[in-house]
Amino acid sequence: MTSQLFTPIALRGLTLPNRIVVSPMCQYSADDGCANSWHMLHLGNLAVSGPGLLMIEATAVERIGRITHGCLGLYSDNNELALAEVVAACRRWGNAPLGIQLAHAGRKGSAQRPWEGGNSLKPEADAWETVAPSPIPMAEGWATPREATLADLARIRDAFAEATRRAARIGLDLVEAHCAHGYLLHAFMSPLSNTRSDAYGGSVEKCRRFPLEVVEAMRAAWPAEKPLGVRITGSDWMAGGLTVEDAVAFAKALKERGVDYVCVSSGGISLKASIPLGPGYQVPFAERVRREAGIATRAVGLIAEPRQAERIVASGQADMVALARGFLDDPRWVWHAAEALGATASYPPQYQRTRAAVWPGAKIARQQPAQSSAAAD
Ligand SMILES: Cc1cc2nc3c(=O)[nH]c(=O)nc-3n(C[C@H](O)[C@H](O)[C@H](O)COP(=O)(O)O)c2cc1C
Repeated sequence: MTSQLFTPIALRGLTLPNRIVVSPMCQYSADDGCANSWHMLHLGNLAVSGPGLLMIEATAVERIGRITHGCLGLYSDNNELALAEVVAACRRWGNAPLGIQLAHAGRKGSAQRPWEGGNSLKPEADAWETVAPSPIPMAEGWATPREATLADLARIRDAFAEATRRAARIGLDLVEAHCAHGYLLHAFMSPLSNTRSDAYGGSVEKCRRFPLEVVEAMRAAWPAEKPLGVRITGSDWMAGGLTVEDAVAFAKALKERGVDYVCVSSGGISLKASIPLGPGYQVPFAERVRREAGIATRAVGLIAEPRQAERIVASGQADMVALARGFLDDPRWVWHAAEALGATASYPPQYQRTRAAVWPGAKIARQQPAQSSAAAD
């Protein structure tokens, strides 16, 4: 049977050659927001590996919107120039459509890189004041953020629009707003982090207002023929937090504003959340959002095995799947999935000779004990 995972999908004027997306992955390796040779290696390698879409990591729209000192940014001309070089290399040698995730860290900003501990920066480490919907720290021991004023909100909204214009100038194919994982836009949505009583908090509609304003500003700044997506929260996994019903309602509101797809993730608002991790554990959220909001949907989270990914798309649980760690572990995941599913993947000419069809070693290298397909769900 023809693989559904390897069928194209059209999002506005962009057609992805298959449904496999490299999930956005922070590299914490930039210099004042500027991409460098690490991004060239990391993204270049993935751009030649045949995904339907390669997402560039969460990219801060203003300097204080970075999570760490190493986060990528698109808040300065230098940032734009540096990223343009990486994009040019990916275009010259690879053929994966390129998307970028735009983000603001909010109260999760001013943090150490994960491999330095991942906690709030100490003042002597060039820490900065963070902003959030309400002055509630992320966790015990974290700095208390400043409650965002209306002037902060106007500046940040404009910064999302300006970064979107920079992404358009660089020639990126797709832009995505990060409204999950506890960062600023998600923090506005969740009652656990938003206790405001003005126009931006209090009721579900008011909590959604700022993220929706940001998305509207991005849509207006982005070419009409290019797709815009949003990563949303399927569940806060906490009593009193966001639920999948909220995700459905939010996705409907996004669709009305010209958003072309949502990626349904979860968690990140509190370290106390208890998350039932397991293969495809967020897929039911994507399925529900897709069915009830009628918007193209990307599933993510512990999707690791080709047949598991194929089933998610073929059964209509999601239109696309995103993998993060799977691609770090095996940058050639798409080639190997194509072999497993009897589909055709894209290879750069320099690497054509590794195709299983022409190199018997491929079969030997990847001979593994048969896996039960049920176990992969
Ligand atoms: C190294 C790393 C960096 C990540 N950075 C981001 C990011 O920039 N934006 C985002 O939305 N999610 C980020 N994530 C989450 C992934 O995109 C993905 O949602 C999560 O890892 C679950 O997918 P997986 O099980 O395929 O890894 C990151 C994950 C990893 C492992």
